[in-house]
Amino acid sequence: MTEAILLVGGKGTRLRPLTVNTPKPMVPAAGVPFLTHQLARARAAGVEHIVLATSYLAEVFEPYFGDGSRLGLHLEYVTEEEPLGTGGAIRNVASRLHSGPDDPVLIFNGDILTGLDIRALVREHETTGADVSLHLSRVEDPRAFGLVPTDATGRVQAFLEKPQTPEEIVTDQINAGAYVFRRSVIDTIPTGRPVSVERETFPGLLAAGAHLQGMVDSTYWLDLGTPQAFVRGSADLVLGRAPSPAVPGRRGDSLTLPDASVAAGAKLTGGTVVCENATVGEGARISGSAVLAGATVEAGAVITDSLIGRGARVGARTVLTGAVIGDGATVGADNELLAGVRVWCDAVIPAGAIRFSSDQ
Ligand code: GDD
Ligand code: MG
Repeated sequence: MTEAILLVGGKGTRLRPLTVNTPKPMVPAAGVPFLTHQLARARAAGVEHIVLATSYLAEVFEPYFGDGSRLGLHLEYVTEEEPLGTGGAIRNVASRLHSGPDDPVLIFNGDILTGLDIRALVREHETTGADVSLHLSRVEDPRAFGLVPTDATGRVQAFLEKPQTPEEIVTDQINAGAYVFRRSVIDTIPTGRPVSVERETFPGLLAAGAHLQGMVDSTYWLDLGTPQAFVRGSADLVLGRAPSPAVPGRRGDSLTLPDASVAAGAKLTGGTVVCENATVGEGARISGSAVLAGATVEAGAVITDSLIGRGARVGARTVLTGAVIGDGATVGADNELLAGVRVWCDAVIPAGAIRFSSDQ
């Protein structure tokens, strides 16, 4: 049975303030910590043993997931004293693996929502006899990712992490954040210092003549590294566009968790999720958004493609579009917050204080 490593130690800086109190993989998507979806998908593909490589806010994972038995998994946790980077994190958990030297080990970035056929990636790895196999996705703008040109047989020719110049943009195929490593290759990563698998290990393996195989798969794929992507991913899970066995309810236009209270005249659409103990008032219209636990949306608020943090409050008639409201923040009535605005945790915005249009 293939085992897996999940990289969940990043600081999630691009997601702040969502990641001020919560590490990125624990921010709820479709009502449960995002990591739940990845764990459940790995389990559905036959993976039973998963090691979580933690660093930033490491202490919150184990109390929530425990030994993993609730998900039918055997979970282990390894915390880095200092962040070791992606490659260092992989090497740092090697002692927990049970696999033999030639066995395949799955490795996942902890912020990817995808319909990847995990078993097909392992099969591809075994039939090609590669040292490392990578899931590749095609994107319109590859600059924020690792570029991975391949030859006609899928063999990787180069690995260009976050290209800086136009000449480096040689392909639209990017590293989609799921790998199969031959176990013995993991053991060649240096110990005790930070290593980037993207900037050091992959280019080094290629230079040494190793066989890296890319598998382009055009299924659903999203890196949830930015607030807009995170909100989109949560909505796609609710709508059923993104596959997960862990969505806590029926797929559809919206999902309301038990113990949430939504007024009869409120309208929830576009994959909106309202989490436990949250309240939505009369006449509120919420589309494509996530209202986290204990948050309050007052009457007549109009919320689109936004995330309302834990215990935050959105006042009556306030309009939010593409906004992130941090945990515990208060946005008073009659505000208008648009275009990627981020309200920090516990901030207080008085009624009618911020508008993008006239109030009359
Ligand atoms: N344990 C541990 N320690 N985990 C880490 C560390 C660390 O020091 N640094 C990052 N991670 C984890 C993050 O939590 C995340 O799950 C994963 O490693 C990737 O880090 P990101 O910070 O999300 O990287 P990225 O999105 O900029 O780029 C990566 O993903 C792209 C696909 O989404 C690269 O792998 C790119 O090549 C790739 O295209
Ligand atoms: Mg990422």
